[in-house]
Amino acid sequence: MSIEDQILNLKQQNKAVILAHYYEEGAIQDIADYVGDSLYLAQISEKIEAPVVLMSGVVFMAESVKILSPTKKVLVPDTNAGCSLVDHSPFDKYLEWRLNNPEAIMVSYVNSSAEVKSITDVTCTSTNAEKIIQAIPKDRKVLFGPDRNLGHYLVKKTGRKMELWPGSCEVHVLFSARKLYELKSEHPDAIVLAHPECIEAVLEYADVIGSTSKLIKEVQTNPAKKFIVATESGIFHEMKKHRKDAELMQAPAEGSCACNECPYMKLNTLEKIKMALETNQYEVYLKSEIIDKARVPLKRMMQITNGEDIIWPQRFDL
Ligand code: 13P
Ligand code: SF4
Repeated sequence: MSIEDQILNLKQQNKAVILAHYYEEGAIQDIADYVGDSLYLAQISEKIEAPVVLMSGVVFMAESVKILSPTKKVLVPDTNAGCSLVDHSPFDKYLEWRLNNPEAIMVSYVNSSAEVKSITDVTCTSTNAEKIIQAIPKDRKVLFGPDRNLGHYLVKKTGRKMELWPGSCEVHVLFSARKLYELKSEHPDAIVLAHPECIEAVLEYADVIGSTSKLIKEVQTNPAKKFIVATESGIFHEMKKHRKDAELMQAPAEGSCACNECPYMKLNTLEKIKMALETNQYEVYLKSEIIDKARVPLKRMMQITNGEDIIWPQRFDL
């Protein structure tokens, strides 16, 4: 029996569903029940009735599922599938920032730990970040973290002043503006697509900036025949499904490394997924106090995304 069929059987036996992010390898995306960007995966997890959810993405995505659906068993294939943005926002330092600005609204990118979310007023993803920033009352100071590149892009886009946390994505910062310029000069008819975690100099060359789902949609709907894509290579799997006729090129990185692959996303494999369903490992555990506190900013994000009004806290208290 193929490994795909074994996973299918295990999934049925365990009443499990598999969620996968667009950066996972193609074979994983193909066996997943739901594939999407970080917002979609959080939204869909709330609608799923199955008691077991296996997240083939990175650990913060699995934590969001657990926070939004605490009664579910949430499994990850590899507990080392972290994220440099989580590493760049250690809780004690982030808390210090929060405590120094109790009157501010703290916005944290979902690429953050559950602990960081627990002291955050509202989360965002790159799909809804602009909408979230625009929903914050104009008289409130805003703290934005942990991705300074996304933050900087949002300051320019919305005109809103924000204090930025100095974190970044180790994959997206390596795209080279100089090499992108050279590639674009060789292919002047190509549309340049970039994720907002890229540095400003790269974003300046982009025709379209957005989340993984926005970039995929652009490839689907734009009749152009060539695209240069400044984000993680897993995204090509979905893009190619829609546009067999188009030439899809990855934006070049500095040096000669294969650094436009996320080393954390790529820790997941079909073998580890099979093992996780066989052994019920590794299960995501979070303290109930953290779950309750971290659910608040995630829920606020969902409400604003759905166009609902929300009540903002006046100040932060531990
Ligand atoms: P999306 O929200 O666009 O899926 O991005 C998540 C991510 O980790 C990008 O590096
Ligand atoms: Fe984190 Fe960057 Fe990997 Fe996305 S691509 S999960 S931001 S390290």
